[in-house]
Amino acid sequence: MVKEHFNSIAERYDLVNRLISLNLDRCWRRKACEEALKVLSPSEDKISVLDVACGTGDMLRCLRKKLAEKGIDAEFYGLDCSENMLEVAKKKVPFARLVHGFAEDMPFRDESFDLITVAFGVRNFSDREKAIGELYRVLKPSGVLAVLEFSRNPSFLGKTAWFYTKSVVPLIGGLVTGDEEAYAYLVRSIRRFPRPKELSKEFERAGFSTLRLRWFFPRIAFLLLLRKGR
Ligand SMILES: C[S@@+](CC[C@H](N)C(=O)[O-])C[C@H]1O[C@@H](n2cnc3c(N)ncnc32)[C@H](O)[C@@H]1O
Repeated sequence: MVKEHFNSIAERYDLVNRLISLNLDRCWRRKACEEALKVLSPSEDKISVLDVACGTGDMLRCLRKKLAEKGIDAEFYGLDCSENMLEVAKKKVPFARLVHGFAEDMPFRDESFDLITVAFGVRNFSDREKAIGELYRVLKPSGVLAVLEFSRNPSFLGKTAWFYTKSVVPLIGGLVTGDEEAYAYLVRSIRRFPRPKELSKEFERAGFSTLRLRWFFPRIAFLLLLRKGR
């Protein structure tokens, strides 16, 4: 079902993101990359980076730019279960190896990546426990995992952002893509999703340690930075 949602909105996914987030989604990804690179300690000359649920490739683009600014050489991989999202990504991130597949069963060897990012993907996984196990398996020891997600925050700003998300986002998303249900799904999935601290506990149970939890303006998106190992 999730895969079909994203297949149906792929062509207009980027446009809707810019509109509904008032361009903030770019800012969130940029900050997430910057924070992740601060805690990354590359073990080799060239590092391996994987973006899980890469969608149309925005996070990969951002990662490449930020790593280049730091003079770090890297090879890039993207994984997604939606063929149509990957079709869009192919044009935007020709430097990355894009792989069709599911986070719950990744076609990569154990301990392959120094850095893994997942932007607005974890909420969509059908079996989160299994996917977290896979993220652990394919990350190198002491590797960094950056999870960017939506959640509700009890602050005034957070409540305002949540009100906007549930009342305006499905309307705009529906108008632009013709698939209002896909954006109603977005609201439902945020409602059902664990709060950031509960989520970090899920990762800790799988063997990660939490490095940082940070909310981004206007407190509807957060970043969870984790390291493989205790
Ligand atoms: C909200 S989009 C985020 C895309 C991109 N990361 C971004 O920042 O714009 C969620 C993506 O997760 C993908 N996805 C959902 N469940 C997945 C799974 N179990 N395995 C791999 N990809 C998945 C969808 O196809 C979709 O492209």
